Amino acid sequence: MVEFYELWVVIVSLLVLKLCHWIYQWSNPKCSGKLPPGSMGFPIIGETFEFMKPHDALRFSTFLKERLLRHGPLFRTSLHGNKVIISTDNELNIKIAKTYRIPGFTKSITQLFGENNLFLQSKEFHNHVRNLTFQLLGSQSLKLRIIEDIDLLARKHMQEGARNGYLDVKETTSKILIECLSKKVMGEMEPEAAKELALCWRFFPSGWFRFTVNLPGTGVYRLMKARQRMMKILKETVMKKRASGEEFGEFFKTIFTENEGGKESIMNVEKAVDYIYTFFLIANETTPRILAATVKLISQNPQVMQELQREHAGILGSRTEKEAGLTWEDYKSMTFTHMVINESLRITTTVPTVLRLLDHDIQVGDYTIPEGWTFMGYPSVHFNPEKYDDPLEFNPWRWKGKDLGAIVSKNFTPFGAGLRLCVGADFAKLLMTMFIHHLCRYRFVFMIV
Ligand code: HEM
Ligand SMILES: *[C@@H]1O[C@H](CO)[C@@H](O)[C@H](O)[C@H]1NC(C)=O
Ligand SMILES: *[C@@H]1O[C@H](CO)[C@@H](O)[C@H](O)[C@H]1NC(C)=O
Ligand SMILES: *[C@@H]1O[C@H](CO)[C@@H](O)[C@H](O)[C@H]1NC(C)=O
Repeated sequence: MVEFYELWVVIVSLLVLKLCHWIYQWSNPKCSGKLPPGSMGFPIIGETFEFMKPHDALRFSTFLKERLLRHGPLFRTSLHGNKVIISTDNELNIKIAKTYRIPGFTKSITQLFGENNLFLQSKEFHNHVRNLTFQLLGSQSLKLRIIEDIDLLARKHMQEGARNGYLDVKETTSKILIECLSKKVMGEMEPEAAKELALCWRFFPSGWFRFTVNLPGTGVYRLMKARQRMMKILKETVMKKRASGEEFGEFFKTIFTENEGGKESIMNVEKAVDYIYTFFLIANETTPRILAATVKLISQNPQVMQELQREHAGILGSRTEKEAGLTWEDYKSMTFTHMVINESLRITTTVPTVLRLLDHDIQVGDYTIPEGWTFMGYPSVHFNPEKYDDPLEFNPWRWKGKDLGAIVSKNFTPFGAGLRLCVGADFAKLLMTMFIHHLCRYRFVFMIV
């Protein structure tokens, strides 16, 4: 009996020892040099819960602020099972953005985009889709075609809102985005398919990037289901159109014309569908939220509101035909609106904008960041009083006459930087401007419900 008991003591001790060793390794990850300061939190869950606590959208989270105070601008943590380096050092963020290409997504987000998504593939494919996207959503295409579509859509939805007596900014932006992008992609779709696609879209829970585990009942599970349905509709529509020789929208036309130039191996129907789906997902997760915050900021600042109304009344007043569409020249002349949008992008960017997986070690001062770690860069430069006077104040006039090009953009990175700089930035700005233009034709009060 005694022997049996002793054996147990040995086994339990060994297990405890093993556990301690594992916990020690967890809190002190391998590194060939000195790791930046910080804590890896609890085994497996790390500091994920603290990180995910909801916070005021116009302020950095307490998670970030506390750790910045304790550790300085560069620290380590563990989130969603990944080893993470968080940086608020602007120079470092831009350097990483320019030298590292692999996106730092969690596994479930990669699944959501599709494992074969061209944005997540090799350098060559990634360059190719970026290039393709600039052809589709770059300023030439915006100028020639997209401006008219967005103008009509914004006008239509604003009139509808006026009739109803209220308008949900997020929802309306989301609708404008879906309708605009769907048309670009599919050309004229069968109304049935278009309706179903819109339904799938609605079915998506928002905030998908916060979900991490694919379990039934959780956000990711529902997202994957919605994704499958959406892909099926897109694919069926494409196949039907191909079979009947019907016209595609611009996106597919451009994508498939590329094919004839010998890029067959890069783009097939599956990849094209994945590619397009990426826009739906990213556009909808960013633009509506920022536009809603912008409208809120405008409504809280009567002087800004007044100046905007003056600018847009001026544009309407200068034309002979009241209901004519807006031109590219009109868009370019909305200087104050552009200042408002820049200022809103500056002040609402309280989330990381450079997200990379490090595929080789990097030395930062005394510290070494090992390969395999995820890098998250926050644009805290937006709140640096040396770059922006009184940085917490919403003051569009600070942008006045600031056509400083490179100097401004170094201290202004709402769309990220480097190899993965947002490809939808100009499109998003155009949409926001159009929305504000049409909004300014009405009197409104802003409410949070
Ligand atoms: C105000 C709205 C938007 C904001 C703040 C925003 C912000 C960003 C940021 C921070 C990145 C990552 C950059 C990096 O990792 O360095 C990004 C990438 C991207 N964005 Fe946007 N975005 C917006 C609107 C859009 C829209 C409307 C679209 C599409 C129509 C879009 C498509 C993309 C794509 C495809 C990427 C990945 C680019 C790549 O991996 O090469 N974004 N965006
Ligand atoms: C991007 O596309 C344009 C026009 O098709 C082409 O001239 C250019 O060489 C491409 N650039 C890259 C990097 O592929
Ligand atoms: C798009 O955004 C709307 C409103 O913000 C949200 O209700 C919807 O679930 C989102 N859809 C997708 C595909 O993210
Ligand atoms: C807005 O920011 C961009 C990018 O930094 C800059 O080039 C542009 O001049 C700014 N626009 C205005 C109206 O200040």
